[in-house]
Amino acid sequence: MKNTVVTFRNAKNHEKLAMLTAYDYTMAKLMDQSGVNALLVGDSLGMVMLGYESTLAVTMADMVHHCAAVSRGVKEALVVCDMPFMSYQSSVYDAVVNAGRLVKEGGAEAVKLEGGDAFCPHVKAIVQASIPVMAHLGLTPQSVNALGGYKVQGKSAEDAQRLVDDARKLEDAGAFAILLECVPAALAAFVRERVSVPVIGIGSGAGCDGQVLVYQDMLGMYDKMTPKFVKRFASIGDAMKQAFAAYVEEVKTGRFPAEEHAFSMKDEIIGKLY
Ligand code: KIV
Repeated sequence: MKNTVVTFRNAKNHEKLAMLTAYDYTMAKLMDQSGVNALLVGDSLGMVMLGYESTLAVTMADMVHHCAAVSRGVKEALVVCDMPFMSYQSSVYDAVVNAGRLVKEGGAEAVKLEGGDAFCPHVKAIVQASIPVMAHLGLTPQSVNALGGYKVQGKSAEDAQRLVDDARKLEDAGAFAILLECVPAALAAFVRERVSVPVIGIGSGAGCDGQVLVYQDMLGMYDKMTPKFVKRFASIGDAMKQAFAAYVEEVKTGRFPAEEHAFSMKDEIIGKLY
């Protein structure tokens, strides 16, 4: 069954939501066939797909390109696309125009943006344009320079209260879900009880309404940074390296390709060639 923002709304207090990042057609199709509720075309693609040190260099063109590929692979999951750094911070107008591009050109069914109170006008305006918005609080990677690194957020009473207030304001602004990244489990559970929209956690404990993971992390494909909250569900990176090495070995020793991998033609035709 097709997942929509209504599925998300109805899942609250009834069913946990499972979300994964996706950046290309093949992966999106595999994930879609595995029953995932939503695929996030995260700007994490800057790091795990494009090799940047952070998400800051990711452009609208990158997001549109990857979101369109994901959308082509999906039948049932809700496609949520990240708004990249500086595609919405500059103005409410830019936020609406760029959210619209992700929908029109990328096939996104919802967008995600990072930030609290200060971005409620942006969320409101995008929602008014009939584009659902997932809000992202806690560790917001686009603010890595302002936060001084990738650290757990909301540990002090003041920070925790601000996060709770931000979550309420974002819900009032029309966000259909709130993503909490790297906040203490007790705080995430507190927020979850105080808002009526689903709270999706990453590194925020089991008390959320759903979870999201970056697929390269959960499949053991990205070893530059492995956050504590990641559970490795398979070691695909190792399996891939083994397969690549076996291929190299077989090419070099002439065992691949074998006869069954080649196409034949009549000997008399070859015999006529000069
Ligand atoms: O960009 C991304 O993949 C994200 C996840 C970390 C939630 O925002």
